[in-house]
Amino acid sequence: MIGAQWGDEGKGKITDLLSKSADVVVRYQGGVNAGHTVVVDGQTFKLHLIPSGILYPDTECVIGSGTVIDPGSLIQELDTLERLNVSTEKLYISETAHVTMPYHRLIDQASEEKRGSKKIGTTKRGIGPTYADKSERTGIRVVDLMDYDALREQLEWTIQYKNGILEKLYGLDPLDPKAVLDEYIQYAERLRPHVIDSSLHVYKAIQQRQNVLFEGAQGTLLDLDHGTYPYVTSSNPVAGGACIGAGIGPTVVDRVIGVAKAYTTRVGEGPFPTELHCDVGSLLCERGAEFGTTTGRQRRCGWFDAVIGRYAVRINGLDCLAITKLDVLDDVDEIKVCVAYDLDGETRKELPGSARQFARCQPVYETLPGWNTSTSDCRSLDDLPKQALDYLKFLAELMKVPIAIVSLGASRDQTIIVEDPIHGPKRALLQEGNSQKSPSRVG
Ligand code: GDP
Ligand code: IMO
Ligand code: MG
Repeated sequence: MIGAQWGDEGKGKITDLLSKSADVVVRYQGGVNAGHTVVVDGQTFKLHLIPSGILYPDTECVIGSGTVIDPGSLIQELDTLERLNVSTEKLYISETAHVTMPYHRLIDQASEEKRGSKKIGTTKRGIGPTYADKSERTGIRVVDLMDYDALREQLEWTIQYKNGILEKLYGLDPLDPKAVLDEYIQYAERLRPHVIDSSLHVYKAIQQRQNVLFEGAQGTLLDLDHGTYPYVTSSNPVAGGACIGAGIGPTVVDRVIGVAKAYTTRVGEGPFPTELHCDVGSLLCERGAEFGTTTGRQRRCGWFDAVIGRYAVRINGLDCLAITKLDVLDDVDEIKVCVAYDLDGETRKELPGSARQFARCQPVYETLPGWNTSTSDCRSLDDLPKQALDYLKFLAELMKVPIAIVSLGASRDQTIIVEDPIHGPKRALLQEGNSQKSPSRVG
């Protein structure tokens, strides 16, 4: 299950819904930059690194190898859940995930400041620097954290090197290696019982024919390779990222479900063609309570962008969509949907690769009538006002995938299950008009 836009699509809510029939839920990328909200019986849970399946006591939750783990934040999250009587006994942490260190957070914050007007607008949680060290092969992994001698040895060299950067490049105070070691040893002891070979664990679950749900964080347009670079995160939220981040082969993935809001939001910097700087934008922000779960920043709001939607269908090989926050459009008189871009006088139906070109893209809109009535109590498609149903049909038509779930509020029951996204017919790639063809089988 992946985010089909720029994150915050309501993945937490949909993961929680799907987790009911999952034996294992796996987070495969990202870190505490994510903020996934689940509302159950009026109680709100904000999850950052722990999979949103954790509220089901029998569901195992795995933090996979492709994630980055800030142990202090993870322990806070564990403590918060335990205080709320949520069992974390079945939470497992990959031994090969990379660990966010204090210098990663400091460098993230300082480099954003140094970039000035060219900043990315990161969550300042040290995500980029942790992944950068992973790529540079200087990272510290959970296995190292669990091994006192390995950690001490690695920190001696690394902190000396990072202190050079902190002091000379950013004018910050150096870190004390002993203090960092002492802090992280304590974290290691608390997390040790949860640490496993996660890829093997997931493999065994799949062999036993258990249902495994891979929960994406962030969204397709924030993907390091396929998003709106450089205004992206440093991991691969797209469906393909599940294979790498969880350590499974692509042949074991049965379905890919995309989550998209009925409009669009974005936090942080970067081009956003359908962004609204008017009263309607403020209305969406207010009605949708569009403030970041992790940083509290106000999210930028705009109309649904079907160019991005089609792109997400293609990049992720989506079988179906969950459309969330339809209720937020209840009071809007006219609803616009971006069906193409105008780039320097030329109509474009695909996302340009260049950020500069993307910044010049003007949305080409089609306008649909609003419904001006509350949908939050609708529980079937038949309950929806005709205009709302027409809107959903229009989106499905534009993106050429069926809508399996419609969400009309934050709580579990404010949902219309149009079709079981897990057991319903698999057909997205076979739909008429979709250029992707399913390969013919031999043998
Ligand atoms: P995520 O990062 O994709 O999990 O999304 P967030 O949790 O960051 O943001 C989505 C917000 O919208 C949360 O506050 C949810 O409780 C809320 N939400 C989810 N679905 C709906 C919905 O259908 N309607 C409304 N009004 N709120 C929703
Ligand atoms: P969930 O999982 C929305 C954005 C940041 C910034 C960019 C890079 O809740 O959907 P980073 O700290 O990752 O280096 O920041 O990515 N971003 C998110 N935006 N939802 C998220 O997560 C995000 N995680 C990162 O705002 O623009
Ligand atoms: Mg979020």
